[in-house]
Amino acid sequence: MGNVMSNKFDAIKERESNLLCNTYGRYPIAISKAKGSRLYDLDNNEYIDFLSGIAVCSLGHSRDDLADVMSEQARKLVHISNLFYQEPQLELAEKLLSTCAAGKVFFSNSGAEANEGAIKLARRYMRKVRKTDRYEIITLEKSFHGRTLSTLTATGQEGPIKDGFSPLPDGFVTVPFGNMNALRGAVGQNTAAIMIEMVQGEGGVRPLPTEYVRDIVDLCKENGLLLIVDEVQTGLCRTGRFWAHQHYGIQPDIFTSAKALANGLPMGAVLCSDEVAKGFEPGSHATTFGGGGVVSAVASKVIDIMLEERLAERAIALGQLATEEIERIRIKHPDKIVGSRGLGLLFGIELAFNGTEVWKRLLAKRIICNLTQGTILRLVPPLTIEEDDIRTFVNELDSILGEVDAS
Ligand SMILES: Cc1ncc(COP(=O)(O)O)c(C=O)c1O
Repeated sequence: MGNVMSNKFDAIKERESNLLCNTYGRYPIAISKAKGSRLYDLDNNEYIDFLSGIAVCSLGHSRDDLADVMSEQARKLVHISNLFYQEPQLELAEKLLSTCAAGKVFFSNSGAEANEGAIKLARRYMRKVRKTDRYEIITLEKSFHGRTLSTLTATGQEGPIKDGFSPLPDGFVTVPFGNMNALRGAVGQNTAAIMIEMVQGEGGVRPLPTEYVRDIVDLCKENGLLLIVDEVQTGLCRTGRFWAHQHYGIQPDIFTSAKALANGLPMGAVLCSDEVAKGFEPGSHATTFGGGGVVSAVASKVIDIMLEERLAERAIALGQLATEEIERIRIKHPDKIVGSRGLGLLFGIELAFNGTEVWKRLLAKRIICNLTQGTILRLVPPLTIEEDDIRTFVNELDSILGEVDAS
């Protein structure tokens, strides 16, 4: 790690420890600028970015076209609150709704806030429109839905995310992943919705099997439940379709978006059918910042670029390349690589042992990716990354695996 650290890094680390709440396990590196699929540290060392701010900067970093939209809108109108009608929000809504079968959208500021809105909408729709007392949301083990009190309760993981925050809100049940009997058994008279990610990102890059999804949809229909899909990480071309649920040919009642929506500016969205949208009325849900002029204008441009540059197709092609490349080296390291999985450029490489040392060595070679669930190297690069960068990653991983012990 020696070459990653520097005196400047030590100074910034020390400065931060005196200033910020200690909530993040930071990587041992401070970034001063970013461009395209490259990050630069304080000493101007260049890194290939397979993380894109955790699946956020899908169009690459610091783009001039987005900066132009940002500054133009910032000179015209930044914030007026949601007490007023404003066009950039509507333009974005039209573009978003043209990508899917949803009928209405609500804008938020983050993924957790979008999921919080989805949960509130499901409950309120059941109470006010269906006139039932259904409020419970069923989620899957190893899911991740955010860090507000209700979204962390919905999250199917234990540990520091939940520890110390009790009492957690009522109305959430988590069932084992892939087990339809457990899911059926969890449905009761209070159940309002089932909430899933099409590919569990934080949970180890686990795509939901097609048959499982079909059974979940049937279960929802049979019991009058809403299906909520958390597309915070999987949406916006990341998996090779505009929305990951489109791989499965399903139409969720509610789905959420955030992360890549404004390519790095904070923005989220709840999308829902016209029917379910009846659950909200003036005063029932709101946010000061959601759908502000600057983020909306940027997000509109993001969608234009994603469609013009056919980034969903690109994600499929690059995901395919990564799969083939990993298979090429898996044969050389059968005791170290279990396999790869994912959809498009939400790509996971499962190691047969704890991957911390491999991750550190990649960083020392100036390659940035993420390690999740201890053994999964998660790659969520900009969708604009070059084929050669993927080959470089795999070649470096190949040489690292030749050096490390599988223990
Ligand atoms: C699937 C999923 N849902 C929700 C969230 C929470 O989003 P945010 O961090 O913007 O609140 C994340 C963040 O990683 C996520 O991956």
